[in-house]
Amino acid sequence: MNILCIDDSPLVLKVGEKILQENNFQSLLAKNGEEGLTLLEENEVALIVLDYHMPKMDGLQTLQHIRRNKNKEKANLPVLILSDENNPEIITTLLQAGANDYIHKAWLTHKPMVFMEKIFELLGFEAKFKLCRFNKLEQTLSPIVKNFHLFVKDYFESGLSGNEISVEDIQAKLNDIDEDYLKGEFVEIIYDIVVPEDYLTVHTVNATLLTMMFTHYLNFPKSKILDMMLGALFHDFGNAGIESPIFRNPSGLEEKEFSTYMRHVERGVHIAKILDLPQQSIEFIANHHEKMDGSGFPWRKNSANLSDISQVALIIDSFDSLTFQREEQKRLMVFEALRRMKSWEGQYSIDLLEKFEKLLAEKNIKPDA
Ligand SMILES: [Fe+2]
Ligand SMILES: [Fe+2]
Repeated sequence: MNILCIDDSPLVLKVGEKILQENNFQSLLAKNGEEGLTLLEENEVALIVLDYHMPKMDGLQTLQHIRRNKNKEKANLPVLILSDENNPEIITTLLQAGANDYIHKAWLTHKPMVFMEKIFELLGFEAKFKLCRFNKLEQTLSPIVKNFHLFVKDYFESGLSGNEISVEDIQAKLNDIDEDYLKGEFVEIIYDIVVPEDYLTVHTVNATLLTMMFTHYLNFPKSKILDMMLGALFHDFGNAGIESPIFRNPSGLEEKEFSTYMRHVERGVHIAKILDLPQQSIEFIANHHEKMDGSGFPWRKNSANLSDISQVALIIDSFDSLTFQREEQKRLMVFEALRRMKSWEGQYSIDLLEKFEKLLAEKNIKPDA
């Protein structure tokens, strides 16, 4: 999909191109209005990003030309003004002349996600997923979820210091939180946390709550739901003890580090067996990194031997990892994470991914803070 960028600043074009590329868009670059109009005639374009201050033909004139195009489709293309112009009158004139939206250039470098959000919105991609996960824990979580987080945190800490873990206690807690969910007492799963050291717990809590919501949505039987929640709670427990920076940022790891990271699955399964977790929980833990096309790890299974439990585990873990990374800069917005997952063809069950998307839309997960 082509995005036409018209700007007289080579730097803006370069940065814009890079961000678009990272989001799987192709860009056509024009350094002035005339060049932009020519590229528009010669190519299929999905959206135009247009600067205002340009020599000869400025953004307003270029916009007027676009809107007068004989080809109706081209004349009606979404146009996003990207300018350092702050004058509200000029911005209003541009919007009245048919620009669809405006964004200040500073966002391009400071928060490229905001720029991408505008683009997605204008392209009509799941506009309802205008969501972020940047809410602060204290402000947004219901007491039920907060308590659950603290419960998991305590359990993990005590487990790591060698204390005995009572699976029955955890199962009872999971049952309670499931009951609360069914009573409609909370829907939130999405939050940020101020203590980065707590990453594993938060990811775990997210995965457990997402699993609960998704499996109810899929009408799984209660006992299977509880087993899968238990699996989600322990799915990355094998990471405990492995040097923390490794599992926090699996992308960009050296090969040796990566094989260490991969071992967390086997270790997790091993621990689960010692704890005598139900088979369905172990299945969740064992296969949460396996992909439908066989490109996952560590067993390199594929769709032929991945059950619905494994397929759900994979979606939940990937989704939470994409939207909740330790480094805030790398976190994706909900709709963008889903879009990427869909673009990685063959890795996930498309049917389940679409259902997951519907679930998130219906739950109206907390908007961008
Ligand atoms: Fe994992
Ligand atoms: Fe995980």
